[in-house]
Amino acid sequence: MGLFNVYPLYDVTPVSAKGIYVYDEDNREYLDLYGGHAVISIGHGHPKYVKAITKQVAKLGFYSNAIQNPLQKQLANKIEKLSGCKDYQLFLCNSGAEANENALKLASFKTGKSRVIAFKNGFHGRTSAAVAATDNAAIIAPINAQQKVTTLELNDIQGVEKELKKGDVCAVLIEFIQGVGGLDQATAEFFEKVDALCKANNTFFIADEVQSGYGRSGKFFAFQHYNVTPDIISIAKGMGNGFPIGGILIHPSIEAKFGMLGTTFGGNHLACVASLSVLNVIEEDKLMDNVKEMSEYFIKIAKTIPHIKRIKGRGLMLGLEFDFEVGDLRKKLIYEYQIFTGGAANKKLLRILPPLTIKKEHINQFFEALVDALDK
Ligand SMILES: Cc1ncc(COP(=O)(O)O)c(C=O)c1O
Repeated sequence: MGLFNVYPLYDVTPVSAKGIYVYDEDNREYLDLYGGHAVISIGHGHPKYVKAITKQVAKLGFYSNAIQNPLQKQLANKIEKLSGCKDYQLFLCNSGAEANENALKLASFKTGKSRVIAFKNGFHGRTSAAVAATDNAAIIAPINAQQKVTTLELNDIQGVEKELKKGDVCAVLIEFIQGVGGLDQATAEFFEKVDALCKANNTFFIADEVQSGYGRSGKFFAFQHYNVTPDIISIAKGMGNGFPIGGILIHPSIEAKFGMLGTTFGGNHLACVASLSVLNVIEEDKLMDNVKEMSEYFIKIAKTIPHIKRIKGRGLMLGLEFDFEVGDLRKKLIYEYQIFTGGAANKKLLRILPPLTIKKEHINQFFEALVDALDK
């Protein structure tokens, strides 16, 4: 049987990984500044993570959501402790799209409304409502296009106000740092005004923290750089360090009802243990301090390189903008310097999404290679 050919692939076959490095079948070493698309938060094969998962799978990998699973409660408590999102309620699922899908569904159930406001260059996943709220016509099938979504420019506060006043908007869905789109951020004034408008119009304010959450921005959540209180926060990528898990944090004012949301695999024992051990490592190894320190170090060096026209993003969710498209540069970095980086919808942007455990020596290695590649 062949594979359904939907991914344009680089010609690299990783077979193992450790920390910031990935190794191919010839044992060639690659510096991973992409983290499998912002997924590897605590580094590849972290010994505490490997131990926790191994122990759990030998004990009980999965049962259903029809039984008691104290690991879910432990995970909820740990997220609350590290994020400071007091008394929010946790619903667990398996991916970022599913998190946003459940967030939108819950907003619609609770407000009785169905239109969504999303933003230009936003990315929220590939399922029904999530993809309809994603600003990329090429991935929206006719069945998804039935959803009612209005896409506005970031910072268009008059637009948000006008649409919310119509009374049919269940949710405003936003990334506080756009990932796939290219690391644009709205202003603090915009975020805070949208929050207030949502509260005044019985509309849920949903923070899509699938990529920016779990410490990547330098705070636990990117929205915490602002004075806002989202009704729902969606999370996924960094949660499991590669083990598939997603979830939504739901404001304490929102009441659950049996059967309202559900999933077979979401919140299984193995996923909970993976995510718990990620949080333990973030806490014990003080990774959020490391994010701040390494981010400053990275930006300081980037500022000295004249080819770089703009530095975008926050924490370890960064982008280097050039005045040319970076597709060939990314290939050069992989094939000639063995360094993984990311691309974006903005073709001139090189995205940097390393494990949060990155050190100065890795950043030095990257910049030496980048300067060499640019000067060639
Ligand atoms: C901000 C954001 N939301 C949602 C998603 C979708 O996540 P998943 O691919 O796990 O469905 C992504 C994936 O890149 C993302 O960056």
